[in-house]
Amino acid sequence: MKFRKLSHALGAEVCDVDITQPMSEAQFGEIYRAFLDNGILLLRGQRCTREHHIEFSRRFGELDNHDALPRDRNSDYHELLMVTNAPNADGSPGEGRYTGRQWHSDMSFTSHPSLGSLLRAVKIPDVGGDTQFANMTAAYDALSDGMKKLIAGLHGIHMSGTRKIASADVGSQRISEQVRINPPIAQPVVRVHPETGRKALYLGEKVKRFDGMTEEESRPLIEYLNRHATKPEFVYRHQWRQDDILVWDNRCTMHQALGDFDETQLRHMERTTVLGSASGYVVA
Ligand code: SIN
Repeated sequence: MKFRKLSHALGAEVCDVDITQPMSEAQFGEIYRAFLDNGILLLRGQRCTREHHIEFSRRFGELDNHDALPRDRNSDYHELLMVTNAPNADGSPGEGRYTGRQWHSDMSFTSHPSLGSLLRAVKIPDVGGDTQFANMTAAYDALSDGMKKLIAGLHGIHMSGTRKIASADVGSQRISEQVRINPPIAQPVVRVHPETGRKALYLGEKVKRFDGMTEEESRPLIEYLNRHATKPEFVYRHQWRQDDILVWDNRCTMHQALGDFDETQLRHMERTTVLGSASGYVVA
């Protein structure tokens, strides 16, 4: 298999791969090793069905049925999350249009935060609709010893209902339902990757405070760490092409959909989410 670096910060493209074709364990093993080494893998030109997408995703591990996000999943394929600005059948604005607009790691607000995600570009706008990724291992490594010591025991409280939404939607049934299904979860600010053994920052914009501290006390440090982790040297910005599949490791990266496109055009992405191991605790 051939791989090509995507950026200084993270990511590699897997060249000449077709997920609709049989792939041996040895070939997939090379892909999985590259996934661990690079944090993100890009597979271009995957003209495939939903079944192919799901089947290939299963090779990374057990898939999430998205019980935590019932409104966003496909009604026939619960393994597929619809990340789309397509309007509903009755013409009302679609539910998934604000998914991922904040820096986050997928499903961090659940007790089984995701191992990885595979996002397929089904329809993209003429320009824009990019996604940014941050290398949280590199961001952690670059902190001073003093800062590493300071954050070692901290837990950030991850909320599910904090996506960037239009003010008309605030307090909507959707948000309150999401918060009811997913009570706030405290996750360690520094997580050890179960496969590489490397430490990574685990934060993002869904975290408003540390457990045992007020928002006012927590905010400066949360903002500093998020700003630090999203410096250009830790970030890769992906410009989508139709039929791209991007695979990312949620245990050592975070990402953000930029929303830098004409919203009257369709941006339709479909995501599978690979379940990770148990982490965190519910906060009353
Ligand atoms: C996501 O957060 O999974 C979606 C990212 C995107 O739409 O680019």
